Amino acid sequence: MEFGIKVATTDKQRSACVVVGIFESKKMTDAAKELDRLSKGYIKEIIGQGDLEGKANTALLLHKIPNLQSKRVLLVGLGKEQEFGGSAFIAAVQTTFRTLQNTGTTDCAFFLSDIPVQKRDNAWKVMQIAKLAVESNYRFDQLKSKPEADKKGLRKITICIGNRADLAAGEEALSQGAAIAHGMSLTKDLGNLAPNICTPTYLAEQAKELAKVYKLKVTVLEEKDMEKQGMGALLAVARGSHQPAKLIVLEYQGKGKKEKPVVLVGKGVTFDTGGISLKPAADMDEMKYDMSGAASVLGTLKAVAEVSLPVNVVGIIPATENMPGGSATKPGDVVTSMSGQTIEVLNTDAEGRLILCDALTYAERFNPKAVIDIATLTGACVIALGHVATGLLSNNEALSQALIKAGEQAADQVWQLPLWDDYQDLLKSNFADMANIGGRAAGTVTAACFLSRFTKKYHWAHLDIAGTAWKSGKEKGSTGRPVPLLTNYLIAQANAKN
Ligand code: BES
Ligand code: MN
Ligand code: ZN
Repeated sequence: MEFGIKVATTDKQRSACVVVGIFESKKMTDAAKELDRLSKGYIKEIIGQGDLEGKANTALLLHKIPNLQSKRVLLVGLGKEQEFGGSAFIAAVQTTFRTLQNTGTTDCAFFLSDIPVQKRDNAWKVMQIAKLAVESNYRFDQLKSKPEADKKGLRKITICIGNRADLAAGEEALSQGAAIAHGMSLTKDLGNLAPNICTPTYLAEQAKELAKVYKLKVTVLEEKDMEKQGMGALLAVARGSHQPAKLIVLEYQGKGKKEKPVVLVGKGVTFDTGGISLKPAADMDEMKYDMSGAASVLGTLKAVAEVSLPVNVVGIIPATENMPGGSATKPGDVVTSMSGQTIEVLNTDAEGRLILCDALTYAERFNPKAVIDIATLTGACVIALGHVATGLLSNNEALSQALIKAGEQAADQVWQLPLWDDYQDLLKSNFADMANIGGRAAGTVTAACFLSRFTKKYHWAHLDIAGTAWKSGKEKGSTGRPVPLLTNYLIAQANAKN
């Protein structure tokens, strides 16, 4: 997809479909008024007939408007003007792409970025348009024998702004928005792939591919290397599987060597059966998405590398299947983590924290500025926050505030849960340093409490994406979250003077 941004007026658009907004009830935006003037009242007439009220999630495609050079004009409903904030803007842009999808339109020129949006600047609007454009064209059909008849999607998006002073910031936002979307596409592809294809070995190959394209450093630890490091918890999860586990490390250097990196640790369980504590059959296929944390680390590194962001980032991905089998870990087994702490495995389905704890100990060697782990960790998080917000738990207030802010900026929200010591007791074991589960109560918090025992040496935040990484039902598929959040956080880090 091709993007451009320029200072332009509606009358100069030849080939493109011109997109302008209409507020409820029937109030024209400046760009719409301009079109109306050029067409001698045609737009007003159409609206007056009641063909478009300006309600959110509605649109009207017009052809061959008198006196206009462009073949098409799309009027998009913006909803109530007083309520026109970030989510209403996103809805209008999504409606635009949805409506234009099967119309034969290949080029469109947006005149939405000049409409004031509460609490958002022009760069934000441009970034959203770029991101949503790529998202609207996303398909996953690589596993179908015949790809669905090639629909002509949008090929070229031009964002028209009124003020030359906004051009430089707009161009930067445009490339960042596109990069985020490209990262999300990678994350979605990896999540959507079938689990017989997307194995730990496959993830390692993808990481090597990414490293080749963007000149990153890549290291893959094999099981024998993990044994040498004493990663008994990670290896305990891998025991039931015929697929070899991998610990993938990617290093992106956008700044001097002395600059401490942000380390991203992504849960990479390429299929979670629960192990001996086997999950029920219903919807178990969705446990192919249990590597979404890993996929978001790869997607974020892609986005960051695509725009050569001046920041150092390390990605660490513990990758394994969680399978039952003759040599699988059993409830009651006690394992020794890389940190030396022992763990009684009371439920083999609480495997995410077992692989993460060793990866988090491994992260110490990078002398991190901050460590953020991303994991589809607990069903309890889906109950607590649904599919809207990602769960956030952290041992550092500044880091959690920075992530909350980045989430708001990216429209990829997080909500903080408490990580108080009062919850630590629930992890008591009679036989080892700790148990790997804390019972049904506060499941998301106790999972984070478990991880906090391995992250004492640095600033750390945990993102539980169990409710936000993918959609179920008819629209089943990866969402690409939280790549927008993580990339925005890293952009903010790059911009911060230090
Ligand atoms: N991958 C699952 C968490 C999950 C479940 C994410 C459903 C999204 C939807 C994780 O490994 C798991 O099984 N967690 C258990 C922990 C429990 C045994 C303490 C859970 O949430 O039930
Ligand atoms: Mn599990
Ligand atoms: Zn899992």
